[in-house]
Amino acid sequence: MAGRLDGQHVLVTGGSRGIGAAIVEKALAEGARVSFIDIETQAGEGLARALDASGRCYFGAGSVCAAADIARVHDEAVRRFGPVTGLVNNAGRNSYADPVAMTEAEWEDVFSVDLKAAWLVARQALPGMIAMRRGSIVNIASIHAEMTYPGFFPYAAAKSGLVGLTRSLALEMGKHQIRVNALSPGYTETHLVREFFAMNDPGLRQKALDAHPLGRMGQPAEIASCAVFLLSDEASFVTGANWLVDGGLSARFAG
Ligand SMILES: NC(=O)c1ccc[n+]([C@@H]2O[C@H](COP(=O)([O-])OP(=O)(O)OC[C@H]3O[C@@H](n4cnc5c(N)ncnc54)[C@H](O)[C@@H]3O)[C@@H](O)[C@H]2O)c1
Repeated sequence: MAGRLDGQHVLVTGGSRGIGAAIVEKALAEGARVSFIDIETQAGEGLARALDASGRCYFGAGSVCAAADIARVHDEAVRRFGPVTGLVNNAGRNSYADPVAMTEAEWEDVFSVDLKAAWLVARQALPGMIAMRRGSIVNIASIHAEMTYPGFFPYAAAKSGLVGLTRSLALEMGKHQIRVNALSPGYTETHLVREFFAMNDPGLRQKALDAHPLGRMGQPAEIASCAVFLLSDEASFVTGANWLVDGGLSARFAG
């Protein structure tokens, strides 16, 4: 049976665990050759070993905040699998800073991973996409780009910036037949969410569950399904959009 990503080479950032790992796995299952970059070297190598039975998966250790790491991993990925046709900017981190106490260095760390990296990696992959007149970029933003929660400063600012970057890139790249979209997950069961609930009152998790119309949080595979759709030709007329995948959480207000 034909996969929805047959013939594609998809590059995923932050693919060693969580949502990124689910995207790596699903893109492989849909027929793509898949490369991923992460600072979590052991987990990345383990995942690549587990998934590489078909020789279609490559892991490169590196940080998306370092242009030299991005160039090295991208160039090796292209040498193995040909030009990148799909890019998922997924690497990200939470931030729990105090707006008064936060230092400039801490601010720059957050924006470097959650915003600047998406441009750095796109800058590396775009020349190949432009030459092919083909490409789809998916930026993993967040529900925090639409509404936020106390104690997350300045995560919402970085993720809102990522949605803005998505719109700008979509306009710049449309003439090259390259689509650029954001995908904004709500609560998704990963390390990030576990870290958040571990820092807070034990009742908060139940409160969050109760606010979801579906009565549960999302699984990484459910976010990955939407990413695969946006990467695929089935989404051929979708660009410049922000897809909110939050199980209906943002459809209600308090009360
Ligand atoms: N889990 C959620 O509820 C949720 C909700 C909204 C948005 N998101 C976003 O989804 C994305 C994935 O989050 P997750 O929940 O899977 O988190 P996670 O912490 O499980 O995974 C993030 C991955 O990114 C990697 N990473 C971090 N900094 C990096 C760097 N500088 N270079 C390369 N890799 C780096 C980490 O090592 C890790 O493997 C993030 O952008 C996050 O902001 C998550």
